[in-house]
Amino acid sequence: MSFSRILVLTLMPTAACLSVSANGESDDDDDGDESAAASSSDDGSAHAEVAFYEDVAPLLAAHCNGCHREGGVAPFTLTSYADAVAWAAPILTAIEARTMPPFTVNNDGSCQTFTDARWLADEEIDTIARWVAAATPEGDASLGMPEPPETPKLSGPGVRNMVTPELYVPKAGLLPDAALDDYRCFLVDPELASDQYLVGFEIVPGDARMVHHVLVFNVDPARSGGATTNADAMTALDDASPDEPGWPCFGSAGEGVWVEGVPITWAPGTGATRFPGGAGVRLDAGQQLVVQVHYNLAQVEAGSTAPATGIALELADDVERRAHVALVDGFLLSLFKEPAMLPPGDPAAAFSYEVTLAQIPNMTTEFENVDVIGVLPHMHTRGTRMKIDFDIDGKTECGADVDRWDFDWQQTFFFEDPIAMKMTDTMRVGCEWNTEGETEPVGPSLGTEGEMCLVGVMVAER
Ligand code: HEC
Repeated sequence: MSFSRILVLTLMPTAACLSVSANGESDDDDDGDESAAASSSDDGSAHAEVAFYEDVAPLLAAHCNGCHREGGVAPFTLTSYADAVAWAAPILTAIEARTMPPFTVNNDGSCQTFTDARWLADEEIDTIARWVAAATPEGDASLGMPEPPETPKLSGPGVRNMVTPELYVPKAGLLPDAALDDYRCFLVDPELASDQYLVGFEIVPGDARMVHHVLVFNVDPARSGGATTNADAMTALDDASPDEPGWPCFGSAGEGVWVEGVPITWAPGTGATRFPGGAGVRLDAGQQLVVQVHYNLAQVEAGSTAPATGIALELADDVERRAHVALVDGFLLSLFKEPAMLPPGDPAAAFSYEVTLAQIPNMTTEFENVDVIGVLPHMHTRGTRMKIDFDIDGKTECGADVDRWDFDWQQTFFFEDPIAMKMTDTMRVGCEWNTEGETEPVGPSLGTEGEMCLVGVMVAER
C-alpha cells in the first residue's frame, strides 16, 4: 500500500514566539459601505452614531471573547466597556493590521478565501474605527455584553474520546527565545483495530489559559525512520524523564520519530472541526497519535500543573471522499543536494521551490484527480511570509498568501473553493524570512536554530 512508501519529513515547530508586524496593507476598505452599522442613539444622547453596547460589544463577543475572556488564552479580557476603552487604541491597530483575530493567511479575496476565516469584515473594522474616533461612547449599558457564540462540539457514535496524560508541569526557561513556552509531546493510542477514516476532531485544553496550539501527528510505530523503529524511539524519549509524562518535542513528534502526516491542527477558539465536503483522512490500523501541545505560561504561576488535553476523534469505516495529508519542504530537502543558506541581516531572505503533487513525499498514489482542500504552512520564528501558487494545466492559480506569518498561530487553512488539480500539476512555494537578528547564515533545520518552508497539503479524491 502506498503508506509503506514512506518518507519522512517531520514537521518541527520550534520555540519562541514571534510577533510579525503585518505589512499593513489590510485591504483598503473602500469606505463606500458605511452601512447601517450605527443604530445607536435613539436614546437621544449626544453620542456619535456608533456606541459600545449597541455596535462594538456584539463584535467583541463574536470575534474576540472566545480568547479574550476570564480563563481564556489571551492575556487580557475584552468583556466589559472598561476593558474595551482601556484597550481601544491597540484594538484598532491590531484589527486594522488584521493581526487580531489571529488568522495569518490573507483572506481578502485576492488569493482565495478560507472557511472559518477569522478576519473581520471591512464594515466591522470601520465600526470600531468610528467608535474609537468618537472617543469610545458607551451607549445603552442596559443592553449588557452578549454571550460569545458556543463552539461546536463533537458527539455521536463515531466519536472516540481520549486524553493526554495528567500532571505534566510545563517548564519555563527551556528556550532562550521563548522563556515562557514549552512544547511537549504525548503518545495517545487511538486503539485502531482496523483502518478508519478521520472525518472530524475536537481538542479541549484542560486549562485554556496555557494551551497555545496543538498538532496531532499520526505515527506508524513499526516504521523505522533511522536507527530504530518509531516505537523504540518514542519509548526512549519517554524514558528520559521517568517522572513526567511525554517528552520534549520542538522537533515535530520528537527526535527520531517519523510521522505520516498532521491530520489535526488546532488553535484556541476552534471548536469541533469536520473536514470539508465529507472528506476523511485514513488512519491505518495500529497507528498511534503523537499530540504536541504548545504551553504558554504567561498567565499561570510557575510550577502550575497542566491538566490533560482532551482529544476527540470522529471516525468512520468509510467516507464519501478519501483525503490524504502529505508534507513537503523543498528548503529542508536541499540538505540532500546543496543546502540552501539564508544570508544574515536580510529583512526579506527568500527561498522557493516547486513540486508536482505526485512528487510530494509520502503523497498517496491512490488518487489521480484531486481537490486540494487545505494547506498547512509552517516556518519557524524568522518567517514573515509564505506564498503558495498552483500551476494547473499551464495556468497559474494563486493558492494562499500567508502574508502575516506568526509562529504562534499555526493551523490548516481550508479553501472555500477547493482547487481542482491532477497529481501531475505543480505547486510552487515561496518563503520569506527576516534574518536581521542573525550574524551567521541560517540553514534548513528541524530545530530552532534553522528554518523551514514546509507545506502540509490536504487533498481529497475527485
Ligand atoms: C484565537 C484567540 C484570540 C482571538 C479570537 C482574539 N485574540 Fe487578541 N490576542 C490573543 C492572544 C493569545 C494574544 C497575546 C499575543 C499573542 O499571543 O499573539 C492577543 C493579543 C491581542 C492584542 C494585543 C496586541 C497584539 O496584537 O498582540 C490585542 C489588541 C488584541 N489581541 C485584540 C483582539 C481583538 C480586538 C480581537 C477580536 C476582534 C481579538 N484580539 C481576538 C488571542 C486572541
